[in-house]
Amino acid sequence: MSESNESNHMKSMPLNKRGLHASRISLGCMGFGGEWAPGPIYPEHIKQAEAAVEAALEVGINFFDHADIYRSGKAEKVFGELLKTRPGLRESIYIQSKCGIRFAESDSVPGRYDFSKSHIVQSVDGSLQRLGIEYLDVLLLHRPDPLMDPDEVGHALDTLHRSGKVRYFGVSNMNAGQIALLASGSTHPFIVNQLELSLLHTGFVDTGVHVNQVAAQANYFPDGTMEYMQLHDIQVQAWSPLARGYLSGRSVAEQAAADQSATTQATAALVARMAEEKGVSREAIAIAWLMKHPANIQPVIGTTNPERIKACAEALQIELTRDEWYHLYVTSRGTRLP
Ligand SMILES: NC(=O)c1ccc[n+]([C@@H]2O[C@H](COP(=O)([O-])OP(=O)(O)OC[C@H]3O[C@@H](n4cnc5c(N)ncnc54)[C@H](OP(=O)(O)O)[C@@H]3O)[C@@H](O)[C@H]2O)c1
Repeated sequence: MSESNESNHMKSMPLNKRGLHASRISLGCMGFGGEWAPGPIYPEHIKQAEAAVEAALEVGINFFDHADIYRSGKAEKVFGELLKTRPGLRESIYIQSKCGIRFAESDSVPGRYDFSKSHIVQSVDGSLQRLGIEYLDVLLLHRPDPLMDPDEVGHALDTLHRSGKVRYFGVSNMNAGQIALLASGSTHPFIVNQLELSLLHTGFVDTGVHVNQVAAQANYFPDGTMEYMQLHDIQVQAWSPLARGYLSGRSVAEQAAADQSATTQATAALVARMAEEKGVSREAIAIAWLMKHPANIQPVIGTTNPERIKACAEALQIELTRDEWYHLYVTSRGTRLP
């Protein structure tokens, strides 16, 4: 193993520091279970999940990310079916799920967030039942509920922990202030924050490099959040780390934000060139770019394709140099650094 390979493997993620022997990369299971609409699951859904999970295990991935809402519960159901056929697997992997988003039920009951104690507890019971397991390793509060009461949330989490249904807790899509507020009502630490981070979603870097500049005012990423997570050993997980494939072969013309297509194309071309030079996949470059960050980000890859899962794992064989990291970042920004 070369020196740079070794340093990439040796990096200790906050999860590891807390005693969870989680893999550097996680597999997101949002793509399992077919259509988003509620309905039955079919053998082809289970087959697809089996192939993906087998590929993940083969490359050392042992951390699987779910949510109660993925494919209206079918993602968890499919995973549960898969676990039934593999005795012992549950104990050798980590299963994370999320709660707090509720779909619309009628015109007067719109899509909403719900951190009430009853919803949190019921949601976990539903996840455990669909997954056919006794406990979740980690439960994330999916998106901040403006009506959240830290004490009520704290009671819900304590109930879940005391009953043995959840080992650890975390959040998703939250800023530092929201995490601190929730922490004030909980006896259990929040050990994860999952956010959208990728080479095409670079706000988490921009916000730091724009301090004291007008550009900072237009930034969507909350100031101080990355720093807060690093200071408190909160695992940063990156959702959509592959930028949904737009850097690794998916047609950029499909991308919704057409105004970004020039920088996306330039970034995708650079990713392809670096991949070729290093003899790794394009996915590996996109993932390695995130893994270079000193927060020791855990990318949550959402591909269901076994070959792409293996391609992502090639990120573990490389470490980008500082110059390469900046070259990718500046290309994605589309403007030079001030
Ligand atoms: N916390 C949150 O709010 C939140 C939000 C969204 C997602 N997540 C989590 O993050 C995980 C990853 O998110 P994600 O799936 O949005 O992002 P991703 O990992 O960036 O992209 C995966 C998606 O892109 C497609 N894709 C990848 N390469 C492609 C290519 N070359 N050509 C065509 N399609 C390609 C994949 O399709 P194939 O399956 O065909 O490869 C899959 O649909 C999810 O599974 C979920 O666990 C969390």
